[in-house]
Amino acid sequence: MKTVLVTGGSGFIGANFILKARHHNWFNVVNLDKLTYASNPKTLDSLESDSGYDFCRGDIADSQQVSALLNQYQPDAVINFAAESHVDRSILSPEDFIQTNILGTFRLLESCKAYWEKRSESQPSTFRFLHISTDEVFGSLGPDDPAFHEETSYAPNSPYSASKASSDHLVRSYHHTYGFPILTTNCSNNYGPFQFPEKLIPLMILNARDKLSLPIYGDGQNIRDWLYVGDHCEAIQLVLQQGRLGESYNIGGNNEVTNLEVVQQICTRLNQLLPKENFDYASLITFIKDRPGHDRRYAIDSTKIQRELGWVPQESFESGLSKTIQWYIEQTDWIEQVRSGAYQAWIQQNYDDARSIEASDSSP
Ligand code: NAD
Ligand code: TYD
Repeated sequence: MKTVLVTGGSGFIGANFILKARHHNWFNVVNLDKLTYASNPKTLDSLESDSGYDFCRGDIADSQQVSALLNQYQPDAVINFAAESHVDRSILSPEDFIQTNILGTFRLLESCKAYWEKRSESQPSTFRFLHISTDEVFGSLGPDDPAFHEETSYAPNSPYSASKASSDHLVRSYHHTYGFPILTTNCSNNYGPFQFPEKLIPLMILNARDKLSLPIYGDGQNIRDWLYVGDHCEAIQLVLQQGRLGESYNIGGNNEVTNLEVVQQICTRLNQLLPKENFDYASLITFIKDRPGHDRRYAIDSTKIQRELGWVPQESFESGLSKTIQWYIEQTDWIEQVRSGAYQAWIQQNYDDARSIEASDSSP
């Protein structure tokens, strides 16, 4: 049985990946996570008695700790999910993004390279370093532009995407310069269970459930290409097993939807699932001041991973969204745990102070 070191495995995508990996017995997992505000250890409670899963609290930037972990567990691969991941937070306080996404990835690369070099002395190396990145590194598309492909030039627009772009470049350079065995994936917006409710879809589901306003930035016509997290996890496993070293793979959901349509679909579904007399959840929609530097459109061309590895997303936006809404309605314990005092403080800072939600349901 192989062992994989997963960083950031207590966050949204990492946790979904670990649960799937253990469920299908793909490999044993060691999860290194700093447990920032975005994590919820409760997500992985079901693995408590799983002998194929270990957790270690720590920072990818702590070289000593990472080296000790590598030597202890001798992993066959490292998958780097660890990051600061929310664009709005990167606008208000970018420093953490530089620390983790750039410096952290650099230190992690250094520790892993040293481990790989030592390991290669005694055995033919099948080691892999898989870096999880985003489509946001490519910048913003116009309405008629072709979707991002692997050769699209990087043009990041937010401190978040700039920090992820830097980390991608570092990862790439370690392959080019040292022959370090890397793979990179650039995916579109994920949605599904266990996503922290600061991101669009869970925020809107939970606000609507609580009859709070549904704050849409700008005119709501920004487009994202929504990818169900379960489909993403399958793609990551394929890239890890069969991806060509040094290559990057774009992973998209084939679901370009405007933000307004996303929120309207959530409201329509909630009107069916949690009906309230003489009340339409869509009446909570409120247009607020736009996000600074707000990227207009993202879209992913997944031809490469489809052609080389045979991956196609299984979930339609409609079916994935239904599952997600159902999950958020049922998981009250998990939700109460993440919506702590710190979460309330963020909502205050981002929506009350910086954007001052209009107390009307007017159109833009
Ligand atoms: P998340 O914010 O939900 O989770 C990030 C996890 O990383 C948290 O558990 C956090 O505690 C951990 N972490 C943060 N800093 C760390 C550090 N220095 N050392 C160790 N652990 C640390 O993020 P996510 O949505 O699961 O995203 C995972 C990866 O996928 C990120 O690299 C992100 O950039 C990328 N990505 C996410 C999306 C999306 O839609 N969520 C889309 C494209 C790419
Ligand atoms: P988000 O989930 O933060 O992901 P990203 O910025 O990485 O794409 O936001 C998705 C889209 O939804 C983005 O265009 C911004 C918009 N959005 C709102 O309109 N209102 C909100 O409260 C949030 C969090 C996002």
